[in-house]
Amino acid sequence: MTEAPAPDLWRVTLTVAAKDVEGVATALENHCDTVAWFEDEAAGTWRLEGWATARPDPAAIAAALGTGVAGITVEPVAQRDWLADNLRAFPPIAAGRFFIHGSHFDGAVPAGKVALLIDSATAFGSGEHASTAGCLRALDGLARRRFGRVLDMGCGSGILALAAAKVWRVPVLAADIDPESVRVAALNAARNGVAPLVRAVASAGYRHRAVAAGGPYDLILANILARPLRAMAGDLARHLAPGGVAVLSGFLARDENLVLGPHRARGLVPARRITIDGWRTLVLHQP
Ligand SMILES: C[S@@+](CC[C@H](N)C(=O)[O-])C[C@H]1O[C@@H](n2cnc3c(N)ncnc32)[C@H](O)[C@@H]1O
Repeated sequence: MTEAPAPDLWRVTLTVAAKDVEGVATALENHCDTVAWFEDEAAGTWRLEGWATARPDPAAIAAALGTGVAGITVEPVAQRDWLADNLRAFPPIAAGRFFIHGSHFDGAVPAGKVALLIDSATAFGSGEHASTAGCLRALDGLARRRFGRVLDMGCGSGILALAAAKVWRVPVLAADIDPESVRVAALNAARNGVAPLVRAVASAGYRHRAVAAGGPYDLILANILARPLRAMAGDLARHLAPGGVAVLSGFLARDENLVLGPHRARGLVPARRITIDGWRTLVLHQP
């Protein structure tokens, strides 16, 4: 009889009042490789989920977090819980300096490339879609610039957040309206060795205070659809630091004006256009 393999991933879950979420998340980061935040609007509380590759000690966590933190659980996570069941062995993809591969890839990463390990298909962003590839090419073109704070709005798998964290080694906030994407982004950050830099949060657009608290941003990445990008133009402009850069994608070239119009109206200026298979990526500068 073969023994079940030891779990290689542990999940810590706890609930905390809104006023404590920031402090507790920071303390939890000392015990986990990565932490993601989810708001329970009805209850007015937040659930924090941390993932660790070594079993965290619940007593040590409880002692570190103090009172007011409810229901700390520590449980093993089976690989298949977080790797997509429909994981496909897609071939590696190159986009600019980035080399995206799944865990099945056993070749060598080409010299000079930045490797991004992406397995899960439960969140958008394997690198195959032209909009993701357009954003990665845009990041490649920006690599010589310096950015202090980065926001990846609509992070999906977190692929753009990982790319930014690896290129600039700065804090990146990865936000998505979909809690599963937030989980996947946090896990991908841990698997790519950039968990200390990437924080993942469930947020509908710029609504949650973690997004405002992390800004203003020098670089905002938003690969969403034309309509939400239009709706978020004001928020984006408010959260972008003077001299900052925005990379927008997720719309067809023919819809560019729908997206560009409200951003231009807020003073952003187009600096670069990338088109792949009819999908447009825009690089905008805030003067
Ligand atoms: C096209 S995917 C992009 C994923 C990844 N950033 C990439 O470039 O491959 C768009 C993502 O935006 C998220 N999204 C859609 N509307 C949103 C909103 N209002 N606020 C935050 N995220 C949103 C979706 O859940 C999805 O994960």
